[in-house]
Amino acid sequence: MTDRVVQLVDTRKRNSVPSMLMPAALAASSASSPSLLKDQRGRALHDLRISVTDRCNFRCVYCMPKHVFGSDYPYLKQPELLSFEEVRRIAGQFVALGVEKIRLTGGEPLLRRHLENLIELLADLRTPAGKALDLTLTTNGSLLRKKAVALKQAGLKRLTVSLDAIDDAVFRRMNDVDFSVGDVLDGIQAAHEAGFDDIKVNMVVKKGWNDDQIIPMARHFHDTPHTVRFIEYMDVGASNGWKMEEVLPSRDVIERIADGVAPLRTLEPNYPGEVAQRWQYEDNGHEVGVISSVTQAFCSTCTRARLSTEGQLYTCLFASRGHDLRTLLRGNGPGMKGPASDEQLRAAIANIWLPRGDRYSEIRTAETQARERIEMSYIGG
Ligand code: GTP
Ligand code: 5AD
Ligand code: SF4
Ligand code: SF4
Repeated sequence: MTDRVVQLVDTRKRNSVPSMLMPAALAASSASSPSLLKDQRGRALHDLRISVTDRCNFRCVYCMPKHVFGSDYPYLKQPELLSFEEVRRIAGQFVALGVEKIRLTGGEPLLRRHLENLIELLADLRTPAGKALDLTLTTNGSLLRKKAVALKQAGLKRLTVSLDAIDDAVFRRMNDVDFSVGDVLDGIQAAHEAGFDDIKVNMVVKKGWNDDQIIPMARHFHDTPHTVRFIEYMDVGASNGWKMEEVLPSRDVIERIADGVAPLRTLEPNYPGEVAQRWQYEDNGHEVGVISSVTQAFCSTCTRARLSTEGQLYTCLFASRGHDLRTLLRGNGPGMKGPASDEQLRAAIANIWLPRGDRYSEIRTAETQARERIEMSYIGG
């Protein structure tokens, strides 16, 4: 591989503080009909993805390549991180505005110390209709053997584990820190034993690197209760040197599985706007999925907001700028007399969501690709 000089622009420092003036649409809504909060394309605010650390113990080639994320990389410092109480307070406002699903991400979220304490706080939140949240987490699995029971006891509902190959040598090349497949499989087993019975396994497919693993992965999980989803490699961030030639369209993934494992039929989505397209093996009824973020963008149904570890809100995975909620929470911006009230926080979130028009994956061009973008390890998968 040739060495590249990657120009990383620190977009994290360029965020704006949102207005706390109550927008009319929010003033007109009530706690029992928060679905009035729709963006410019009619998309409701339904999911919140919260990154709890920008650090990871893997160096996946498509996410945190070693030549960029070396020992001198400027990770966030402890005082910059939102505390668990701050995260809970912000999350509570999102839930009041209609969010029903929260996903914890990283970096690697299980590296955040005592994460189970945050899960306990979030598991207590209720929607305006009184429902518990769909509370889930994405992990690389390396710490699951140690953490699975605590996560379950804290109230985590579901788990997604990333695993990019079933062949050990290929997996070690993908994670680039010599982590073994066996240890991730053992983590999945531990989670299953702890009572997580709806585990999803995500594999990012990078053509020429791990696409020979599609059939072995599908075969490995074919007779297990876990659902594998194959993800198209995306141009998130500026550090992974993404090239369209390295994307294997999901359509080809499905063809390979149907030819090499067992015939497939389509399944209806579990919910409107589901990111994965679901398929079912004709021989045993088990499910397998694909996520086609590059070749069949799903922006038109994107209901996801993303909160960074330091309290910056992003309305798209490919955003260049975020919105500084931490300054409102801590009340330390110019002219602020103290921390924002809950109502002011909700107004600020509405002021960010209502004008939203993001649809990066639908309009990907050479020009949009040249724009500055946040890193996946900063904002989470
Ligand atoms: P479930 O809640 O289990 O249905 O999960 P999910 O379908 O929301 O998928 P998950 O959170 O596991 O995301 C899987 C992968 O899909 C991510 O790692 C990304 O690669 C991709 N992805 C998820 N959300 C988005 C999005 O909003 N935009 C784009 N472009 N890709 C996304
Ligand atoms: N393309 C697609 N998915 C990615 N992820 C990270 N980087 C990329 C990328 N470039 C997702 C993967 C991984 C999760 C943590 O983030 O799904 O499992
Ligand atoms: Fe870490 Fe996940 Fe990124 Fe891999 S994809 S480097 S495991 S955050
Ligand atoms: Fe949503 Fe942006 Fe992804 Fe489109 S590219 S689905 S708007 S996060």
